[in-house]
Amino acid sequence: MQYVMGMMHTFIYILLCLYTLLSYFNPKKQKRKTNEKAKKLPPGSMGWPYIGETLQLYSQDPNDFFAKKQRRYGDIFKTHILGCPCVMLASPEAARFVLVTRAYLFKPTYPKSKETMIGSSALFFHQGDYHNHLRKLVQSSLSPEAIRKLIPDIEDVGISALESWASEQVINTFHEMKKFSFEVGILSVFGHLDEKYREELKENYCVVDKGYNSFPTSLPGTAYHKANLVRKRLGQTLTESQITDNIIGVLFAAQDTTASVLTWILKYLHDDQKLLEAVKEEQKAINESNGGGKKPLTWAQTRNMPVTYKVIMESLRMASIISFTFREAVVDVEYEGYLIPKGWKVTPLFRNIHPNPEFFPDPKHFDPSRFEVHDNCTAKVAPKPNTFMPFGNGVHACPGNELAKLEMLILVHHLVTKFRWEVVGSQSGIEYGPFPVPLKGLPAKFGKESSTQEVFI
Ligand code: HEM
Repeated sequence: MQYVMGMMHTFIYILLCLYTLLSYFNPKKQKRKTNEKAKKLPPGSMGWPYIGETLQLYSQDPNDFFAKKQRRYGDIFKTHILGCPCVMLASPEAARFVLVTRAYLFKPTYPKSKETMIGSSALFFHQGDYHNHLRKLVQSSLSPEAIRKLIPDIEDVGISALESWASEQVINTFHEMKKFSFEVGILSVFGHLDEKYREELKENYCVVDKGYNSFPTSLPGTAYHKANLVRKRLGQTLTESQITDNIIGVLFAAQDTTASVLTWILKYLHDDQKLLEAVKEEQKAINESNGGGKKPLTWAQTRNMPVTYKVIMESLRMASIISFTFREAVVDVEYEGYLIPKGWKVTPLFRNIHPNPEFFPDPKHFDPSRFEVHDNCTAKVAPKPNTFMPFGNGVHACPGNELAKLEMLILVHHLVTKFRWEVVGSQSGIEYGPFPVPLKGLPAKFGKESSTQEVFI
């Protein structure tokens, strides 16, 4: 018996030796090894073991962190943040490579906590067939044909928000804008939703917004009703968790983003009275043609607000509220002679591209004329390809961009024609929560334009 066992061991040993020898001389394997050696990682620094450079990123203005790296290492550099090795890309060509032309080599990736909070079936976390299918559904509910019907409702939501701000002393502009963009998000997902359910949804969503992991998949007594509403709207059957995750996902994607940009728009207009006058002039003419606001805005009018439109575009550029987007290499990828190893995160840095003087001269100056447009808001001089990506690019580019622009145009229309505002306290500084917004959410006092009372004491 012992003899047989001994023979077996020898046999296995010989097999292992043979396998190792064969693999060593396997030309395919050899080639891969030589290739990997030939390709080098991009320049950069990986910081401390485990924590990498996360502390450096969060202990300073992220702008400075990225800008310093780009100055030191160029448009492609490696770092290690939030527990992941990462290649950051600061050129338009590299952004296009990752997001558009070689998008199939990179999958979307988010911190696990975010995925758990929103729900793993939400479209941003996927690629391929499931993503395509969902994206078509979401896109159809955010298409121009769908959103143009929402104009009167968005106007109502905007006017009542502005009225409420004017009745208060000082408001946190960003917090109030979040309420507005959330209401518009609900409109785009559910259409008209009964007041009771809307309030319940808001209450529950607030929990998600604060970072808890417990969004109830069904609101008491209303799950069936809502699921049906959404099913009807999307015209397809999805599982309940797919519906829930995507509802939360869309609301999540719609709220802080739009609210941050709106807050910046108010700051930029406040800081440039001449520009504010030009916007007022444009909007007052539209208001008068609507009988002093007696008639609702039309789709055509919202498509013909060139001055305001340019302010929105320049605000999107200046604020760059989505600093970068995260992808993960699904295989070893070679870019410009550098290796991006499989499993590494890849981040196209919008925040470094938008303020690059090569693409936008005098980039720190707020200058809407860079986005010169025809009367119908089609671009006269478009920025160079892939240099202006506030809504991303490629298969995951923002499907809500038209709605975002529409709600911003509508709010600004009512704001400048009927109200005025004054920023209170410090007028400079940025805070990140996580998107950049003016310090303390831009505290401001609002008043009615027609009011004879002086509101700003
Ligand atoms: C000014 C406001 C907004 C900005 C700046 C913005 C920006 C972006 C960006 C940069 C992306 C791409 C992210 C990536 O590539 O990883 C994105 C995706 C997305 N956005 Fe927006 N967004 C805004 C408003 C909205 C609104 C109003 C909605 C919906 C009502 C929305 C829904 C979405 C969805 C569903 C995705 C994921 C698309 C996909 O993965 O296929 N966004 N957004």
